[in-house]
Amino acid sequence: MNVIHSIAEMQRIADAHRSEGKRIGVVPTMGYLHRGHTSLIDIVRGSTDIVVTTIFVNPTQFAANEDFTKYPRNIERDTELAAEAGTTYLFVPEAAEMYPTPYHTYVSVEDITTVLEGRIRPTHFRGVTTIVAKLFNIIKPHVAIFGQKDAQQAVVINKMAKDLNFDVQIIVAPIIREPDGLAMSSRNVYLTETERREAPVLLRSLQYAGEAIANGERSAAAIRTSMELLIVESSSGRIDYIAFTDPESLEEIEKFVPGSRALISLAVRFGQTRLIDNTIIAIP
Ligand code: PAJ
Repeated sequence: MNVIHSIAEMQRIADAHRSEGKRIGVVPTMGYLHRGHTSLIDIVRGSTDIVVTTIFVNPTQFAANEDFTKYPRNIERDTELAAEAGTTYLFVPEAAEMYPTPYHTYVSVEDITTVLEGRIRPTHFRGVTTIVAKLFNIIKPHVAIFGQKDAQQAVVINKMAKDLNFDVQIIVAPIIREPDGLAMSSRNVYLTETERREAPVLLRSLQYAGEAIANGERSAAAIRTSMELLIVESSSGRIDYIAFTDPESLEEIEKFVPGSRALISLAVRFGQTRLIDNTIIAIP
């Protein structure tokens, strides 16, 4: 595995592989890698010749009050994990080169970025789509992979790629979880011991929703109330939202329609740590 810092060098290498007819896959990350990230590398490796894993804690997707400066970082460990997982090139650009001063250009997806996470983090997705578009322009991958863990992010990036005619196949990969059900996340290290013990209630609440729907419950409001109770009665978690939406349009669902699919997503704060999780349910 080669580690690349310079944008021009990354572009040269990617262009050379492309002209040799090699298929390039990209795995964008903010580092502090875990099995969720390495699962993406594994999947992309299966359908490409060259895997570029990127590590960049992207300042434009954090609001001023968020955790940009304390976001966990460990480049030595990340380098080992990325290599073990089968990365060909680890691209670790510098913030000053990615966002030179002055910087003026952003990519912004409308409407679907103002709901769910976007309601609480209004500038977040503009930062995500900007950095992902820049990575696509630098690496020009054939394939890019994102995790279902960040369900709305995957929808937004798919829409950006389609609307801006990026010639990139977007793959969305399943959520990788700890043995007790907590979705893996770089931010899980922020949790205290007690919060960590409580956090699997998120998956339990999503599973409860799945069972209620399987048993014939069709009201989103009724399920939300039970999920809220389950979370607040068995943990210190404070709920930002529990949402029931169409998995693609992200439009809110009030009554589940047989034969359709619903994305159930939630964000819950444990102390200073904000956790998100979700599931997609086929309505019987
Ligand atoms: P980051 O949070 O580091 O996540 C990188 C990728 O790993 C994302 O596609 C995310 O959905 C996926 N991922 C994280 N946890 C996962 C899990 N438990 N199971 C499966 N996939 C998981 O998401 C970002 O970085 C950034 O917003 C980025 C897209 C890199 C743009 O800066």
